[in-house]
Amino acid sequence: MADWSDFIQQIKRNNDIVDVIGSYLELRRHGANFMARCPFHGEKTPSFIVNRNMQIYKCFGCGESGDVIKFVEKFESCTFTEACEILAKRAGIPIPESSANRDDKAYLERKKKRDVYLAICRDTARFYYRAYYSEVGKTAREYIAKRGFDEATVKRFGIGYSPNSFALPNYLQSKGYSLEDCVKCGVLSQTTSHGCVDALNGRLIIPIFNMQSQVIAFGGRGLDEETIARGKYKNTSETPLFTKKDNLFAINIAKEQKQQTALPNLVVVEGYMDVIAMYQAGFRGAVASMGTSLTEQQAKWLSRLGDTVYICYDGDAAGQKATVRGLDILDKAGLEVRVMTVPEKLDPDEYIKKYGAEAFDRLISDALPLPDYKLDLLEKTFPINSNDRAQRNNALAKYVKGALTMLKALDDVRQARYITAVSLKTGYSEDYFRRKLSENDDEEQPQSDVAEFSPEEKAKYFVAACILRGEDYASIEEKPLCNTVFLSDLYDYLLECKVNGVKPRPDMLYTVCPNASPEQYAEIIDVDLSKQRHDVNERYFGECRRLITVEKLKNRRDQLTKQIKNHPDDNTLLEELAKLSRKITEVK
Ligand code: CTP
Ligand code: MN
Repeated sequence: MADWSDFIQQIKRNNDIVDVIGSYLELRRHGANFMARCPFHGEKTPSFIVNRNMQIYKCFGCGESGDVIKFVEKFESCTFTEACEILAKRAGIPIPESSANRDDKAYLERKKKRDVYLAICRDTARFYYRAYYSEVGKTAREYIAKRGFDEATVKRFGIGYSPNSFALPNYLQSKGYSLEDCVKCGVLSQTTSHGCVDALNGRLIIPIFNMQSQVIAFGGRGLDEETIARGKYKNTSETPLFTKKDNLFAINIAKEQKQQTALPNLVVVEGYMDVIAMYQAGFRGAVASMGTSLTEQQAKWLSRLGDTVYICYDGDAAGQKATVRGLDILDKAGLEVRVMTVPEKLDPDEYIKKYGAEAFDRLISDALPLPDYKLDLLEKTFPINSNDRAQRNNALAKYVKGALTMLKALDDVRQARYITAVSLKTGYSEDYFRRKLSENDDEEQPQSDVAEFSPEEKAKYFVAACILRGEDYASIEEKPLCNTVFLSDLYDYLLECKVNGVKPRPDMLYTVCPNASPEQYAEIIDVDLSKQRHDVNERYFGECRRLITVEKLKNRRDQLTKQIKNHPDDNTLLEELAKLSRKITEVK
């Protein structure tokens, strides 16, 4: 345990929170703090602050707060241990053997397996890449040339080629991997007749990377009729590393681009080739949903990279029901969604080839905000301008119903704006829409009473906050009564620091109390001592400490009284009770 906590201290000392978060987000100095738009919930105005003194971050919008490790854990969607590893690597700190202390054995096992699968995928990608440039790769190279992709693009995406069924299994075995592991991570398939074979045999290979730029899966495009007949594309099936619906092709490129410069427009397209063509044309924020409807996980990845997402689906694919649901998922995740329309049913790759990058850029500028797009869609479905009166009225009723559904999902500001637009369009009054919307409003949720803290509870938080900040007057002799794990762990830490003669660190709050609620953290870190004069704080601290002491003494007195009931003749108990009672009046 000792080397693990040393390790954490070392990580924290060598990874300044402002530097680390600054490498993920654009931070702006704001007085003593740094500010950004919160990466954990959608927002337009920054309420996310990073404080260098305390080495913590906090979002006043969503309440999320933490230290440098917690930030990485959340941002990279990884475990605590992985976050430590990332930060250790960043600072060049060696990782101790027992680094899995924090997590269970099962986790360690899973992690080991994961590392093996990642190594297999990496080596497989290298194998395909070499095959692409070797003699056998000629067909693939010709195909790529025919599609107009250049060398730099091919290299950037790590495009490869699978020459046949058996070269890959032989190679992977020669590297010492078990066939079973290779099947588990999807690069080989088990057949009854030929044993383990290359899962993407004979195809052009497009590696799929995760946010951390590790290869986790492959897409394979058929190059000849016979292969295409079995599916134009074939992808790695579901594996422990990869689920198609939860990943986005080229998310790694968008992320790296963001870290190098600013993020270009984030554009979600359907296909691999669309992303690759866009990259070559200078659009470096393109990712592919790989042909499926968008999921919450994908929305999370996207919201880490930016706050506006352009959707560019083939033909009218964006208008299909399943897809609109996907767009709503992005909207719910706080992303500003804009829908592009590519004319002539072309896909982005074809459009760029035909009309060029500038024309495509105009499609981006012309993209419609989601509400407008939905209204457009409604208008296309219901002929509200029909000359036939009956038909028109029927269409209007349906249009209005659809518009109400759309309006309901909007925040107040946007709702007001779109009520005007819809009213103009339909001739129904704005009042009508407002009335309908308030009718449909779900019964106001009764405010669940936020658990109020008792005065003693409040005192414990204040005392801990002062000690944690190293205020000169702040110290306590013994642990108070703690009825939550949070306070108990926190006071253990504070007293441990006292015993060892070290200064407590505010950011350790998140390490020693890893599972507390945002409200509990807030109760400590929102304490703003600068609001009062030093002596006022000191006096208040004294009051709080007294309250805590009295509570503990009274608790002991109650225990004693109970014991005495059972052993009325025990003199030592009686003596202690008398002493306690005197002390309580004294302290009070
Ligand atoms: N897709 C798939 N399996 C298929 C067909 C498609 O996984 N059998 C996924 C791929 O990710 C593909 C995307 O859906 O890139 C879009 O499919 P499609 O529009 O048919 O392919 P394109 O990307 O246009 O490919 P190409 O230009 O090579 O024909
Ligand atoms: Mn295409």
